[in-house]
Amino acid sequence: MGGKSSELRVRRAHCLGGEISVPGDKSISHRAVMFASLADGDCRIEGFLPSEDCLATVAAMRSLGVSIDVLEQSSLGPECLLVHGRGMVTEVPPGDIDCGNSGTTMRLMSGILAGQGFASRLVGDESLSKRPMGRVIRPLSDMGADIKAEGTGGGAPLAIRGSRLQGIRYELPVASAQVKSAVLLAGLFAEGLTTVIQPVETRDHTERMLNSFKVRTRTEGREISIAGGQKIQSCDFVVPGDISSASFWLVAASVFPGSQLKINNVGLNPTRSGVLEVLIGMGANITSSVVNDDGGEKVGDITVCGEGLNGIEISGGIVANIIDELPILAVAAALAEGTTMIRDAGELRVKETDRIAAVAKNLQAMGADIEEFDDGMRISGGKKLHGACIESYGDHRIAMAFAIAGLFADGDTVIENADCIAVSYPGFERDLEVLSSGVKKEQEEGGADSAG
Ligand code: S3P
Repeated sequence: MGGKSSELRVRRAHCLGGEISVPGDKSISHRAVMFASLADGDCRIEGFLPSEDCLATVAAMRSLGVSIDVLEQSSLGPECLLVHGRGMVTEVPPGDIDCGNSGTTMRLMSGILAGQGFASRLVGDESLSKRPMGRVIRPLSDMGADIKAEGTGGGAPLAIRGSRLQGIRYELPVASAQVKSAVLLAGLFAEGLTTVIQPVETRDHTERMLNSFKVRTRTEGREISIAGGQKIQSCDFVVPGDISSASFWLVAASVFPGSQLKINNVGLNPTRSGVLEVLIGMGANITSSVVNDDGGEKVGDITVCGEGLNGIEISGGIVANIIDELPILAVAAALAEGTTMIRDAGELRVKETDRIAAVAKNLQAMGADIEEFDDGMRISGGKKLHGACIESYGDHRIAMAFAIAGLFADGDTVIENADCIAVSYPGFERDLEVLSSGVKKEQEEGGADSAG
């Protein structure tokens, strides 16, 4: 591992193992900062993910007049925050609110800002400016919001003129936790009841965390309702490790025969843990045990013994659960025996980059056999991978997925534009080094073959 600051060079490894904790959950960190900012007093947030995306949310809430202190700073950044909630009161921001690369910041903030008594403007980087925002603008407009997409193609910047909102009943056309959350948050500031109907279950951190902050929501099957005018009561919150970050190591350890890996303190929310189900379906030897259920989120430890993987069919309702893990699962499929089919995953085309095209192009560059579909891909596993120059397309999950592929390839794999990894996993390179080279050293000491 090494290279220029924006370049990550990865060499073949032979095993991956050890015991780690991954940084805090990204989705939960965003929500913790937003809800704590709206709460009626001080909230301590431990295990906050100090990634660029989540720091954009901290900056956004600060620009609305919320004071947020850093109580503990690790080498990765601020991991313990004290948020001085202002009881649903926000101030006119001094300028544009920059959401950076973060779709979660932009979409959830649009829900909050739609119901405030002032105008605001949300801007984002090049990637975020290309992402679809009509999916939040439509339901929020139905509630009475005044939001204009100023970007070409109906995207950011979003100019929001705060309005009096009315509760609605809204059937989501896409399975999106971000859209669901934006509508529920707007519903908190609206008159009457707001109900969102999801096509399939999506991550439910918003509902769980609102309940922890003593806001009532009602879930009945695919319908979630919230009554407007409720107050958010302050509470302390501990953010578990991010299962999406853990999934990179789960895949690598599952494929290397003989690997032994333990990841502690990972969020095991059932609407996010589908990656475990898929890997076990591929033959992985993975066990998980819940050690804590405080704050409404299941948290536990995961152990993996490397035994290799087989192909699998992935489609239907599970796709929303594993949407962020599909790039690394596609890499897992290339390293597995047999064929993997991924369908119903068209949403991957509107993530930080077109993840179907990026995965297909990069896997092909490394010698894998992959066919691309509108809504997925077919991967024939077991082909020998070789190092290549990999374009991250500025997408953190593409960069990390292919750093893992590089551990299994002949020759060097160079991930270009690897800085984007800091969007969700600061410290990834360090963990990669520790988990792969520590094992190599042990093997060398034990006399095992360590030729690269
Ligand atoms: C997220 C929801 C998902 C996911 C994203 C984070 C969230 O997006 O891909 O990384 O925090 O709610 P969609 O809800 O748009 O599918």
